[in-house]
This record gives sequence, C-alpha cells and structure tokens, in this order.
Amino acid sequence: MRTCIFYLLVLLLVTSCAPGGESDRMEDLLEKMTIEEKVGQLIQYTGRWEMTGPAPGNDYAQTGLQKIESGELGSMLNVTGALATRNAQELALNSRLGIPMIFGYDVIHGYRTMFPMPLAEAATWEPGLARLTSRVAAIEAAAAGLHWTFAPMVDIARDARWGRIVEGSGEDPFLGSLFAAERVKGFQGEDLSANNTIAACAKHFAAYGFVEGGRDYNTVDVSEHTLQNIIFPPFKACVDAGVATFMNAFNVIGGVPSTGNSAMVKGLLKGSWGFEGFVVSDWNSVGEMIEHGVAADQKEAAQLAIEAGCDMDMEGYCYENHLKELIESGEVAEALLDEAVLRILRVKEDLGLFDDPYKYCDKEREKELLLHPDHLALAREVGKRSLVLLKNNEALLPLRKSGQKIALIGELAAEKDSPLGNWRAQAIANSAVSVLEGVKAKAEDSQVFFEKGPRYVSSETGFLTPLEINTTDPRGIKEAVAAARRADVAVLVLGENCFQSAEARSVTDISLKGFQKELLDKVLEVNENVVLVLMNGRPLDISEFIDRIPAVLVAWHPGSESGNAIADVLFGDYNPSGRLPLSWPRSVGQLPLYYNAKNTGRPTDERNLVNTSRYIDLSNDPLFPFGFGLSYTSFEYSDLQVSEPGLGAGESIEIRATITNTGEVFGEEVVQLYVRDVAASVSRPVRELKGFRKIGLEPGSSDEVTFTLKPDDLFYFGADRQWGIDPGTIQVWIGPNAMEGLESSFEIQ
Ligand code: NOJ
Repeated sequence: MRTCIFYLLVLLLVTSCAPGGESDRMEDLLEKMTIEEKVGQLIQYTGRWEMTGPAPGNDYAQTGLQKIESGELGSMLNVTGALATRNAQELALNSRLGIPMIFGYDVIHGYRTMFPMPLAEAATWEPGLARLTSRVAAIEAAAAGLHWTFAPMVDIARDARWGRIVEGSGEDPFLGSLFAAERVKGFQGEDLSANNTIAACAKHFAAYGFVEGGRDYNTVDVSEHTLQNIIFPPFKACVDAGVATFMNAFNVIGGVPSTGNSAMVKGLLKGSWGFEGFVVSDWNSVGEMIEHGVAADQKEAAQLAIEAGCDMDMEGYCYENHLKELIESGEVAEALLDEAVLRILRVKEDLGLFDDPYKYCDKEREKELLLHPDHLALAREVGKRSLVLLKNNEALLPLRKSGQKIALIGELAAEKDSPLGNWRAQAIANSAVSVLEGVKAKAEDSQVFFEKGPRYVSSETGFLTPLEINTTDPRGIKEAVAAARRADVAVLVLGENCFQSAEARSVTDISLKGFQKELLDKVLEVNENVVLVLMNGRPLDISEFIDRIPAVLVAWHPGSESGNAIADVLFGDYNPSGRLPLSWPRSVGQLPLYYNAKNTGRPTDERNLVNTSRYIDLSNDPLFPFGFGLSYTSFEYSDLQVSEPGLGAGESIEIRATITNTGEVFGEEVVQLYVRDVAASVSRPVRELKGFRKIGLEPGSSDEVTFTLKPDDLFYFGADRQWGIDPGTIQVWIGPNAMEGLESSFEIQ
C-alpha cells in the first residue's frame, strides 16, 4: 500500500493562498496607493551609501533618492550602517504615504564578526551552531540598520568546480535541510518584530547548484525526481521554519528561467507549500530572461516574472519601466500587483517597521555590538569545530607546545584577509587572526619559524577584482625549504585565497595553484613530517600528494578567529570533530561526485571491472567520503540492533549501536545513520543520511546511540509523482561516514 502525503490539495491551496497574516491595516494602505506607489514597493535598487546620508554616487543613486522621496522605491540593498539607513528611511517616511523601506544585504556568515563560511559551518555537523552564528549575524546587522539578509543559501551542490559550493551546506539534503532551518531561525529569532532580528531569504530557488559543468550561471537540466528528492527539501525546510522571503535562481530548468517559473514559484512554493512571504528576483534575473531567450524585451520579462510570482525586482528595472503600462493596458491583472505589494508590506509589518521604522538604526547599539567579544568567542568556537582532520599518520598532530621546532610555511599562514572568507559583508579588511599569530600565541617553548614561500596572488584581490595567481616568480621556495630542513615538523598552509571561491568563481582545475605544488614537493624532500593545513572554499585535488603527506587538516576560511581556531586544533587544545559535508574528489574528472548516487544497472566492484559503470583510469570512490573526519582518539562501533523486523504505517522503529572511545583522549564522534531502499518505484540512492548525532566520549567509555525512524522519514517522490514508500527491504547502517558502518535491515510492511 502506498501512502501519499503531498500535493493532494494543490489546486485548492493555489487558489486560496493569501500572503501574510490578516492585517487589514496593510489592505487599507493598499487601497490608498497609486499605481506608481504600488510598483515602487516591488522595486529594489542597489546603493553604496555608507556615508552620513544617501549621497548620489552614480545615476541610479540619484534616481533612487528622488524615487524614495516620491514613495516609489520600496527597498534597497547594499545600504548599510545605522546612520545611512536612518537617513534613507527618513526620506521614505517623508513621502506621501510614509511607507518604510526595507534594507537588504548579503549577511552570509556574519556582518562584522565573521564566522566560518557556510560550507565550513556545515562541517561541524552541529546545526544548532548555525542558529547561534546567524543570531549573532542578525544582531550585528540589525544594529547597523538592516532588516533583511539574503541568506541562507540552501542550494545542494555536487560539483566542486562551482565556486558557490562554499555558500551552501554541501551535497546532502538531510544535513542541508537541518542547517537551512536553523539559519532561518537564527536570523529571524522568536519574534521578527524585535529590534535584533532580521528577515531571512531562502535562495536560490531553485537548482542553481546544478549548473552544468559547475560553471556559474549556466544551464540546469534536472529531472523532477531530483528536484523533489534532492533539491527542494532544504527550501521546504525553510518554509517550515517560517522564512520571510525567497530569492529566485538565475538559471533555467528545462529551459524555463526560475524567475519566470510559475509552476515552481506559484504552484509549489506559494501554493502547495503555503509560503506567505515574498519572493525577490536575483540581481536582474527578471531582465536576464531576455538573454535566456524567453522574453523579447523588458516588458515581456516583467510580465513573465510578475505572473510567475516574483514579487520584487532586484536591480532589474523591468518592473519599474513596464509594470504600470502592463497593468493599465490590461495585459497584467492589477490583482497580481496587489498581491505582490501586500506580500511585501506584510513582511515590513512583521518586521515592525510600520510601528517604529528607525528601531534598527541605532548608532550606540551598532558601536556596542559589532565585534563584541562574545561574538568573537563564538567565532572561535565554531571555527575550531568546523575543521576536518583528514589524515594523521603516527599521531603527527597535535603539535607540541614545548620542545618542538615548527616551520610554518606559506603566504596564507600569515594572511589576515583570506581567512575572513568571501561574502564578508562589513568585515574589516585584514582583521582575521592569522595562523601565524594563532600558532605563535600557543607554542610556549616550541620554536616557530615562519617562511612565506613564493607570493601566491600577484594582484590586489577583492570581490570585484579578477584574481591573478603568481606563476612566474618562485622566490621564497629556497628559504621555505631551508626552514623545513631544520624543523621537526613543517606546517604548510596552502589552498585558496578567499576570492577564489563564491559567486562567479568557477574553475576547471581544483588542484593547488601557483607555486604551491612545487613548494610542497620540495619541502617533502627535506622533511617528511609535513602537516598540510588547507584553506579552501571547495575540496581541492590533493591526490598527487596524499600518500606522502602524513597529516592533513581542512580549515576552510574560518572567519575572524581563524588563526586561534586552527591553533586550538593543531596543538590539541581542541580535539577535531568536523566531518566532511561533501565527498572529497580524487580528481576534477570525477565531478559531479556525491555519495547518495544511484547504483546503476552495472555497478562496479573489485571482482567485476569490465563493462561496469566505472572510469578505467581512476576509482569511482572519493578520496575521502561524505561524513568522514578523524579525531585525535579512535572510536569503535559495535552491537548494531534494529528494534523490530518490520515497520508499518503509524509505527516507528529504533536502530541503535554502541560507540566506544578506544583511544587515550576525550573526543567527539559524529555517529551517522544511513539507509537504502533496495527496491522501489524509482531507483533509490545506494545510501541516504537519515540521522546523526555528535557525542563526546571520555577514553575507554561507551555510549549507545539510538535513532528512531517512522515511515515518513523514508518517503520519497516516486514514479507516480507522489511522496510515499513501498513494502520491501530497507538496509541500514550506523557508522562514521557514508562508506563504512555496521549493517542490518528491516522490512517496510
Ligand atoms: C547575486 C547573488 O546571486 C545573490 O546570492 C545575492 O544575494 C545578490 N546578488 C545580491 O547581492
């Protein structure tokens, strides 16, 4: 018997869907608005108004100023600071109806205090931490006059070539959904109208992480099956968590741009899922429908977008230039405009802006809260928990605080900017604690000698500056090798500058760049005790070195407290507990790579290497699997038990195992539950994460970890386009990553 849960009431929901609460106040306001004022609420301009007032820096800023005064601009992005937002808000309040503006900004992993990049944060496998960091980001951003962040990005990504993989939670919908929900709850808090909570924005709806070849903004062509089972769940989790806004994705799916995808935005998001907030386009994604080739001009693009449920046009000018005309000519129903206006007004109302439009702009609070010591302490805590130890032969790590000669090598080791990560909002340039500073502060009687090696980046870097990597000047290698030769251990900090990842940073080569390989090679020739600390926004191809390097620590770009967090782990003050939120490839040629893949009709194995689904030059397996990460102690899994032989409707089943710390120090393990639905109406993944728990164990001690599953935890979107499950065998594993674990099974009845 097949149980169906979703989509039965789709039509009903589509027709009955109304945004926001039942506020008559907003409807009364709508009644009073002219068509120009209504259209104005749907427009968002960018600005760079970080001065004492909204000073026109370009034409748009000038136009923006006039538009605010005439009540024809409802929102701006990139206007920050208590003073600047207050000044702009004053202009809006002086307009005919005095409708407050909503100020949005990319507060992705902090406002001034920087936390680890979202991918790194997901490596903590502690979604609760994401709620805390988002809370702090909101506290800082709100004090600086902001009402709305364009986060969380919840795009599932399987391709390390895509620069934006760093902005999400990795490849898994289960882990990604938990992080998505916690981030929404963190930004929005308990009460959106409080002066320290901001509206969140689930982006990019949808499938942006599936751009072909990992090339940013490229075409997406995914099946409904993948959309439903893999891509949508984190978005749905955001809706369930009460997210106030959504952002359209840039890409097409099956030829239809997300911004013009009525079935997806109106039918699914606002219909079936009952989302009551508003949808903002991505930057000119309305206008880009012309480039996509589905709109002849701005006017048609505006019509497509408003009819598809895109409520606000970010920097697209299509609504501004054509909505009025479309409505007056009757080509677009005014009811559509009204619905969009109401959705936006209601979010403004929920934020409390109609009651106190200035409560976010508080210079004193801004001064007091930005970079507050408690925020920095949290950055260090989450930073150290996000690090993933991939290799540690013969306990080379932790380093010793006394009696050890440590050569610290690499430009990134002394860098104070890259560790902040990309999308750094209002972080102060060069304000991160460097690895050099962190290590020096900890290495009591151990000697630390630093050599920066060859220059890595040969140009000024920045968000809008193309990055040039030094490939011509090898100076510095000799000195670094000399330092390594006289050291007991050489710690090399290599990887990526932060501006090598995030938006528009797609690559075809994920190996170490510039002179980094040569440096590593030469150091290994003189000292085999090498610790490779990677700073990275994506998994990097280190296959060529992995057998020769005894210790590898993935540090990502951990934010303001980077060096301290990394030193905490390097010296063993914190025993690493991070786990990979994605599969770490052996080579760029394996991409896209993900653990929850299908078995295929010809799965490969050791005994059957011919005519099976494999590469003839490389294993299918990742270098390190999803969920993998080491500790300075070791854990043993035993005694897997499944409480019942079968699971029926309305029932639940328990799966448990005992985990023992078999090493000599306290450590934390991420115990993971995976399942496989062996025969279903559609081919199901060879493994799917269905639960995990991070537990702390003293040496020699054990803990029993129990997971409970109900039938709907195993539901999938099947061949009949319904969510459900069929009778048959479910394999289960409890283990330390997606490729290991104790195995058992039960039957769905
Ligand atoms: C484009 C990016 O795709 C989106 O994520 C971001 O929020 C907007 N620009 C605004 O900066």
